[in-house]
Amino acid sequence: MTDEMQTGQVGRVPGVRIVGTGSALPSRTVTNDDLAQIVDTSDEWISTRTGIRSRRYCDRAKGESQLTLACEAARRALAASGHTAEEVGVCLVATFTPSAATPSTACLLERELGLAEDTLCLDVNAACAGFVYALYTAGCLIERASRPLALVVGAEELSRVVDFSDRSTCVLFGDGAGAAVLERAAGAPDLVATWGSRGNDEALFAPGAGAVDAQGAPLASHLSMDGRAVFRFATEVLPRCTAEVLAAAGVEATDVDRFVFHQANKRIVDVAVRKLGVDPERCAGNIDHTGNTSAASVPILLDELVRTGELSSPARVVMAGFGAGLTWASCLVEVAP
Ligand code: COA
Repeated sequence: MTDEMQTGQVGRVPGVRIVGTGSALPSRTVTNDDLAQIVDTSDEWISTRTGIRSRRYCDRAKGESQLTLACEAARRALAASGHTAEEVGVCLVATFTPSAATPSTACLLERELGLAEDTLCLDVNAACAGFVYALYTAGCLIERASRPLALVVGAEELSRVVDFSDRSTCVLFGDGAGAAVLERAAGAPDLVATWGSRGNDEALFAPGAGAVDAQGAPLASHLSMDGRAVFRFATEVLPRCTAEVLAAAGVEATDVDRFVFHQANKRIVDVAVRKLGVDPERCAGNIDHTGNTSAASVPILLDELVRTGELSSPARVVMAGFGAGLTWASCLVEVAP
């Protein structure tokens, strides 16, 4: 994997803000000690290398799934926004673990939430950068729409795709969903975004159900990863794409109220904080109790900050995600729930 990275495009959506957030974590808490019963690992190794102490898994016996989490997070975000399901014009769900390949999760949300049939519903797969990709895309879609309200969800059930015989990956991931309602509004500032992708199926790979190799033999559906290569990629791209979006928006890091970074590993965020020279207090994460929830991690953290009152309203927030694809994306957006 080359460390050389092209940078370039900047997106700007005029006059939009996030007016509601929501999240949902499944009921089953799995601690590091629980995983040490399954693979050769320890709480000490996991917490010092990643910052993770526990994660949540869906309890299928209780009917929990990626779809139920997506519904719950979306309902909460809509309720917090003060808008109704009928007002939504666009519904995007970022995920690489949908409950079904088709219908899309977004389409099923139309039914579950009672969205209008003319809502533009689709899933976005940009792995852990998915929520930021989807938020920017939704902004573009509502820019000219007659119903300029978007529901953007990140929802994952990674416990379904991790390999529980591989200690280097199974300890990292968890399940969850987060959502935000994005509104076009007079007087709202621009959403500014930058993004990138670089095809690479060696650093991080999840074949998905039904995938076959070149000879047509079924592939194990488990996620596989070159942890060190991904760590190098992440610690380079996270500070870089954050700096890019600040430069594109003409904003100093000190003008940002909160940085909401994808929660893959606390050490990755620590490196970004050091490189960017920002106050660590404004980058605090929640990976200790969520693990890496891929596309759900940014909106789950955002919602936790809103619910705990840690975010002033309105707040200038920079979000950034990075992950399989490889993909990365960052955006500056106003949050005023
Ligand atoms: N428990 C105990 N030991 C483990 C372990 C575990 N869960 N997983 C790996 N190890 C061992 C390895 O086998 C290796 O042993 P060895 O030296 O005898 O070969 C040793 O720990 C060090 O492994 P290494 O891979 O170098 O560890 P690391 O410090 O790079 O940390 C990650 C591993 C996965 C935590 C780290 O590389 C990482 O976070 N990478 C990015 C992953 C990521 O964020 N992916 C998602 C992106 S969206």
